[in-house]
Amino acid sequence: MTAPVSTAYLIENMQDARDRTLELIRDLDDEQLMGPRLPTVNPLRWEIAHVAHFYEYFILRQLYGFESVLGERADQLYDSIAIDHDVRWDLPLLTRAETLSYMSAVFNRLVERLEGGMASEGDSFIYQFGIFHEDMHTEAFFWTRQILAYATPALAVACDVSAARAAGAHPGWAKVPGGAFLLGAGRNAPFLFDNEKWAHPVTIEPFEIAKAPVTNREFQAFVDDGGYGRQDFWDAEGWKWRQEAGAEHPV
Ligand SMILES: [Fe+2]
Repeated sequence: MTAPVSTAYLIENMQDARDRTLELIRDLDDEQLMGPRLPTVNPLRWEIAHVAHFYEYFILRQLYGFESVLGERADQLYDSIAIDHDVRWDLPLLTRAETLSYMSAVFNRLVERLEGGMASEGDSFIYQFGIFHEDMHTEAFFWTRQILAYATPALAVACDVSAARAAGAHPGWAKVPGGAFLLGAGRNAPFLFDNEKWAHPVTIEPFEIAKAPVTNREFQAFVDDGGYGRQDFWDAEGWKWRQEAGAEHPV
């Protein structure tokens, strides 16, 4: 079960997710908003509309019987299950302006149908489901920008990076002793995804893991030291990719 939350909380979090989305595409020109056809990224103009389609499909259409703002085109263009990744660049997508207006039309409908006070348990679940889905896509918008070597976005909403910058490298390894632990969500979790059902005991062997993610500066040292040329630093799949891509350094 999902713990009921207030409608104000849902609206505030929808707005936060949307603000993050918009600040990650705002500075991009029309060409950048489509980008090259790559297996690891989506065309951003497709992906931001897909976020709106997801809310519209699961909440407004499936649960509450609304028609799509886009009519039949909605599923023909933005259903991520039905539309193969490779063809997303070839679709007659909405223009940038139309996309933004589709996103706000869906957003406004979602807000309008909430009546204030506490949300039902069903709405508490499905609205947060949509919000977390958008949050996952904002992570994808970030990696897309990095893969395509777009400029670092001017982040006002999405983070205060000063703390992370100040922290710097944190080298070394943490030893995890192994043993049994509960993997998955418990019955009283305030929110959970389907694929977290249910907590069950899992036993793992002892292992070590880096204490913190590798920083750009640390990775630069690896590249400068010829790390891209030494097979012993790569696993088999990574090395195969490196050779096929002819990669000598990150993008
Ligand atoms: Fe998605």
